[in-house]
Amino acid sequence: MSTAYAPMPAALETRRLRLQLWTDADAEDLCLLAAERGTAAPRVERAREILAEGRAATATTGLALLRITRLAEGDFIGYCGLLVGRASVDEPEIAYELLQRTHGHGYATEAAGAVLDAAAATGRKRLWSTVRPWNTPSFRVLEKLGFERDRVCAEDGDGELVWLTRELP
Ligand SMILES: CC(C)(COP(=O)(O)OP(=O)(O)OC[C@H]1O[C@@H](n2cnc3c(N)ncnc32)[C@H](O)[C@@H]1OP(=O)(O)O)[C@@H](O)C(=O)NCCC(=O)NCCS
Repeated sequence: MSTAYAPMPAALETRRLRLQLWTDADAEDLCLLAAERGTAAPRVERAREILAEGRAATATTGLALLRITRLAEGDFIGYCGLLVGRASVDEPEIAYELLQRTHGHGYATEAAGAVLDAAAATGRKRLWSTVRPWNTPSFRVLEKLGFERDRVCAEDGDGELVWLTRELP
């Protein structure tokens, strides 16, 4: 690994959730999540490639998007974690996506809170998030976590993007 930061842990636990690294066996879960996006979901072979790309990025940056399962039910519900995304290795983006049937129970806030603590433990001092202006639930999650709006950009050719940021202790 080529960064000055400690890697994110391979697993995190909260009151209701377990967050852990993906394996090839989880490719169908990724397809399930992608199928809800309203665009063509990847085939399982492509999902395996996406997961392998994620593992390669983690090996380089120490950052990871972790799959989430509920502790009580044992079921897969989505992911949350850190990635370079539109930001940087030093000040990465936080990201999350959950299956629709599990929205509205505070799971994203709970998972992202654990990821925030893990980000601070790697030695990082600031996180970013980029959100489409219509994404009220995501803004609310970030607000609950103490993120603040930084700027609005339109440079990616796909509409406006709101940048939010949070200092880490
Ligand atoms: C964003 C997302 C992860 C939130 O997951 P979640 O587990 O439902 O989030 P939480 O329950 O922790 O918090 C959601 C908050 O938004 C609020 N909310 C949801 N829809 C809302 C709406 N239409 N108007 C106002 N508030 C809304 C909820 O009431 C809740 O706030 P509260 O705790 O003050 O009541 C989920 O909607 C999702 O997976 N969306 C698709 C992927 C995505 O957009 N990812 C983020 C890309 S930037």
